Amino acid sequence: MNNLIKSIAIGVVTSMISFSAFADEKPYQVVDGAISANAVEGWKTYNGGGCGACHGKGGIGAVGPNLGQSVTQKLSKDEFVNIVANGKSGTMMRPHKTNKRVMDNMDNLYAYLLARGDDVLGPGNLIKMPLGK
Ligand code: HEC
Repeated sequence: MNNLIKSIAIGVVTSMISFSAFADEKPYQVVDGAISANAVEGWKTYNGGGCGACHGKGGIGAVGPNLGQSVTQKLSKDEFVNIVANGKSGTMMRPHKTNKRVMDNMDNLYAYLLARGDDVLGPGNLIKMPLGK
């Protein structure tokens, strides 16, 4: 019985440690001006998906809110995914779940917007930035 409690306790502690390690890890990388490919793909998806029409260049905010701020200060990743996929009923934010490009690039989109919110990327064109890993 004691051993069972011990192993449960160890399991809980282990999962807490791995969770916090995961939470600290950024999904993008910018090292010496080189941006990871996933963020560039996210930027392309942001533009290709038409998000900028309402959320402004680089997500800076227009009719829709500033998305860099949304993902760094307000929404969890799950909430972000849910809103992008299902939209917000009664608002101009439409569902994108039938947009294959957006759905396939959800992680990349999130990585790009997180890098914007963290202020490691400007709102402009990324195509000329050197590619990291
Ligand atoms: C036709 C305009 C329009 C387009 C296109 C659009 N959005 Fe939105 N979006 C909005 C509006 C308006 C809101 C605010 C809804 C509300 O009132 O809560 C919003 C809200 C959001 C939110 C929630 C933000 C928050 O802080 O609560 C996210 C995330 C989001 N949009 C992501 C996207 C992404 C990613 C795309 C492109 C795939 C996109 N949107 C395309 C208009 C748009």
